[in-house]
Amino acid sequence: MKRVPIKVGLVGFGTVGRGVYEILERHRALLAQRIGAPVEIKKIAVRDKSKRRGIKVPTGLFTEDYREILRDPEIQVIVEVMGGTQEAKTLALAAVKAGKHLVTANKALLALHGREVFGAAKAAQVDICFEAAVGGGIPILRALREGFVANRILSLFGIVNGTCNFILSEMSEKGADFQATLKRAQELGYAEADPGFDIDGWDAAHKLAILVSIAYGVHVPVDKLFVEGIRRLSAFDLECAKRFGFEIKLLAIAKSQGAKIQARVHPTMIPAASMLAAVRGVHNAISVEGDFVGEGMLYGAGAGSGPTASAVVGDIVEVARNIIAGIAYTVPPLGLYADKVRDAAIEPIGSLKGPYYLRFQALDRPGVLAKITSILGRHRISISSVYQNLAEEGRVVPIVVLTHEALERDVRAAVAKIDRLEVMKEKTLLIRVEENCR
Ligand code: NAP
Ligand code: HSE
Repeated sequence: MKRVPIKVGLVGFGTVGRGVYEILERHRALLAQRIGAPVEIKKIAVRDKSKRRGIKVPTGLFTEDYREILRDPEIQVIVEVMGGTQEAKTLALAAVKAGKHLVTANKALLALHGREVFGAAKAAQVDICFEAAVGGGIPILRALREGFVANRILSLFGIVNGTCNFILSEMSEKGADFQATLKRAQELGYAEADPGFDIDGWDAAHKLAILVSIAYGVHVPVDKLFVEGIRRLSAFDLECAKRFGFEIKLLAIAKSQGAKIQARVHPTMIPAASMLAAVRGVHNAISVEGDFVGEGMLYGAGAGSGPTASAVVGDIVEVARNIIAGIAYTVPPLGLYADKVRDAAIEPIGSLKGPYYLRFQALDRPGVLAKITSILGRHRISISSVYQNLAEEGRVVPIVVLTHEALERDVRAAVAKIDRLEVMKEKTLLIRVEENCR
């Protein structure tokens, strides 16, 4: 192969960056055949050059100043896998302004500053690729932009955070401890630098914002999304869910209702027999319903070095092929050529309708259940099942109620009233139920 190599600058050499380097090294010849030219990493920016990396890399490649990569005229593609938002935004904007194509795995960057970064890429007519930002190794963004392009997307249900799915699976199957399992997820390279982003639902929200942007051709203000994480879930809730024939998963959900879009992230009870309920460990799955294609699902490893790097390298190959063909920006990042992408009109959570799982923590005294059910009744909420552990009178016990379909606004009002009862000893836990989840 006689073509000059496509030169890449890698910013970040942690879980993902190392994986990218390994793939480009190990599959150097194979990728050159697939692209039509070799790909070469010319520089790698890190915070600390002296850190032991556990992988053989010529030391001359490292720099502690990513601006060296920006200034290098030979580097055509910048791969941002350092994370964070402020510095990543500065880097992204400077990269595209310098005419370099950008590959990033940074969902927080795109969810919060996508409008600006995409605008800059369009103005500079450079490629911006970010497949690894959602679903790790699963090519869901390409599927939405290209494979499902003929369809209006009616709904999306996604398990899009590997850390949370790993924790919930371990808790549900092995009764594992929440904190210990989170620590293992961190050691395995699944969690964000601040794992609060994972367990509080924000990482999934960033991914949902990207999915919704592509599915509906809109910008999604992340602060308009309803986001709830998994911190308050207990082994008891997972156990109870099973008793009622459900599993609990952290889901990112989008549904289109005319001009309005439902977009929310929260722990969700889904039928134990559904396909998403069978998604275990770090795996992710995104179920998409299009008006012509019907239902489809993509499944695979959602985090970790190899799967994420696989998606990043897929993007590098796309950009490299475009460079050779002398084209760029042929498929716009949100799959839409519209000049003005509108802000999404997100439905308020209060107007959601569905069944709810409510766990009350109350003193076990005569008449408590009657008080709870009476308040629920006054708010038009009817009960389908009740479960209560045997307990001694005077102790705090969980009382679980599964409701029929109710309006969230009513459920919240009822729960607020119930929580003010003197016998209630903890804030009530509310989990939404999606009975028709695939
Ligand atoms: P990580 O293991 O924490 O690695 C971050 C890397 O960036 C480190 O090598 C660090 O340098 C370097 N870095 C940080 N700030 C820098 C700066 N100012 N200049 C130069 N280098 C800097 O993170 P990661 O897990 O690989 O994740 C990277 C990105 O990919 C994040 O946006 C994350 O959300 C996304 N992502 C991760 C996964 C996953 O499974 N881990 C999956 C999908 C997407 P030092 O090594 O010297 O500290
Ligand atoms: N922290 C993320 C997760 C990494 O656990 O899913 C993959 O985006």
